[in-house]
Amino acid sequence: MSNYHIKHLEEYYQVYRKSVRNPEVFWEEIAEEHFVWRKRWNKVLDWDFSKPEIKWFEGAKLNITENCIDRHLRTKGDKTAILFEPNDPSEAAEHITYNQLYKRVNQFANVLKEQGIKKGDRVCIYLPMIPELAISVLACARIGAIHSVVFAGFSATALATRINDCDCKIVLTSDGSYRGAKTIDLKGIVDTALEQCPGVKTTLVAKRINSDISMKEGRDKWLQPLLDAASTECAPEIMDAEDPLFILYTSGSTGKPKGMVHTTGGYMVYTAYTFKNVFQYKENDIYWCTADIGWITGHSYIVYGPLANGATTVMFEGVPTYPDWGRFWEIVEKHKINQFYTAPTAIRALAKEKLDFVDKYDLSSLKVLGTVGEPINEEAWHWYNDNIGKKKSPIVDTWWQTETGGIMITPIPFATPTKPTYATLPFPGIQPALMDENGQEIKGNQVDGRLCIKFPWPAIARTIWGNHKRYRETYFSTFKNQYFTGDGALRDEVGYYRITGRVDDVIIVSGHNLGTAPIEDAINEHQAVAESAIVGFPHDIKGNALYGYVILKETGEGRDHDNLRKEINQIITERIGAIAKLDKIQFTNGLPKTRSGKIMRRILRKIACKDTGNLGDTSTLLNPEVVQEIMDNVL
Ligand code: WT7
Repeated sequence: MSNYHIKHLEEYYQVYRKSVRNPEVFWEEIAEEHFVWRKRWNKVLDWDFSKPEIKWFEGAKLNITENCIDRHLRTKGDKTAILFEPNDPSEAAEHITYNQLYKRVNQFANVLKEQGIKKGDRVCIYLPMIPELAISVLACARIGAIHSVVFAGFSATALATRINDCDCKIVLTSDGSYRGAKTIDLKGIVDTALEQCPGVKTTLVAKRINSDISMKEGRDKWLQPLLDAASTECAPEIMDAEDPLFILYTSGSTGKPKGMVHTTGGYMVYTAYTFKNVFQYKENDIYWCTADIGWITGHSYIVYGPLANGATTVMFEGVPTYPDWGRFWEIVEKHKINQFYTAPTAIRALAKEKLDFVDKYDLSSLKVLGTVGEPINEEAWHWYNDNIGKKKSPIVDTWWQTETGGIMITPIPFATPTKPTYATLPFPGIQPALMDENGQEIKGNQVDGRLCIKFPWPAIARTIWGNHKRYRETYFSTFKNQYFTGDGALRDEVGYYRITGRVDDVIIVSGHNLGTAPIEDAINEHQAVAESAIVGFPHDIKGNALYGYVILKETGEGRDHDNLRKEINQIITERIGAIAKLDKIQFTNGLPKTRSGKIMRRILRKIACKDTGNLGDTSTLLNPEVVQEIMDNVL
């Protein structure tokens, strides 16, 4: 039996049991059989959640790019590693083979070295979704520099905070980027950010939009001439398994962003193993994850996981709406995509549009569909399943976090029967626990609680850059000897998990715990509703009452708002109970969202509480303009 490739449910249970009974042996076998190491580990695992300290494959030496590139050259040199699909559909797609990737990564690595970058130095990457982004990530890994990718939609302030937090010496960027019909002046944003970043001595600038930008003498250099002059050979830096590979910032519930530190060996093993199984990747498949490499989803499941498996991974520069709402499906047809991985927010937006945008294209290449990032509501799940998967491609609802490095709870397609809105079963090696408010584990099925993980897995983040105390307090202090995820979950009668949402979004109404997600699901079932968000606001008798923000579909516009309010509350009463009825319903044209598509409830909560004196940082919003609209119409 191969533990590496799980093909049916019985096999999953066998592998899972083994992974829990003897985790060290389990992970050691996978690490040994499927990767190249320069030196073997002395010990598979050393851990103590109370410190917390977690070490995997201690003493082992490797370079992750040897695993992602070099070792494939002999058998797959001419296979496409990265398939780049540009923003403009009339521009040709670019196929970068493993041979070409090897040369381009080495050239980039040599350029970084020439600029004085050494092992352990932090490199800030602020690039759009162009090949240079993936190549520079790998170039850092080649020479042991720690990459800190900042999503190229973040503002100058957000960028500066992230550059300074980990003392980046260099910033990699481009003259600008394409986003649908618009261009964005990335270099201008970098210039503004760097006014506050005295530690940055160099920027390397890729040319993408050929805009006329100013280059600061002595600091800014065009990338391409340096690459052209660089050697295509660069010996990999030999790293310890526990050397940091990258830092990636994630927003906390309060305060400044947390620089999650991921290390090399365990992260590689875990992302590769999960990629293979969760997407059932087979040789010659074309895999597409629509995320940006600026998020953990892109790090783990556009770059490292796929390349460690010798896969063909698509990088899409554009947006789902350009030139029209059919773009995703046009790309699926054009490149005969086999695995497609996206976010519920994208699915809901696409589902609002006419089906003609889907039906025009041949989607028969699709075998596996994935979602990630937030709970997927039942309506969106069915739309995805019916119209994209044609009821024959399993949907993998993958639950995980920036901090977990890789997918944690997920169906394995063709093995695990799926259930709408359920992330289903823990991946091998993952030991979830549901905890009650008193810190006790809730055993058995048909229960709900706070989701923790009780045993380390190889890709867990090891610390927060420069702030180990915050790492301990955020993740290891709420429940003793458990990693606390911040999410609530329920376990059904067969042991399937459903993530019910952040526990910080729980609202207690008249002493009842109400999750925002199930109420939103109920509201979204109304045929006139496109999207909704619930927050709590203070109420004299109930403690808290519920305030709903609702976006209507075109079909709902012009309808009587008071009637709609009654109908929405009727559905909630039917699905959840009268306790969950909304006291106030405000119809709006938009909801404030982060660039990764999450609704910023913090802002909605403040508006509903009429506490708008200090809305906090709105600079990272995708659509800051809706905030004013919502404030103007508050009930
Ligand atoms: C939070 C982590 C992991 C990559 C993208 C998000 C929520 C994530 C699911 C899912 C329900 C989900 C959780 C989690 N989440 N996936 N399949 N079902 N909720 O990474 O920004 O670190 O956010 O996203 O609340 O804690 P992130």
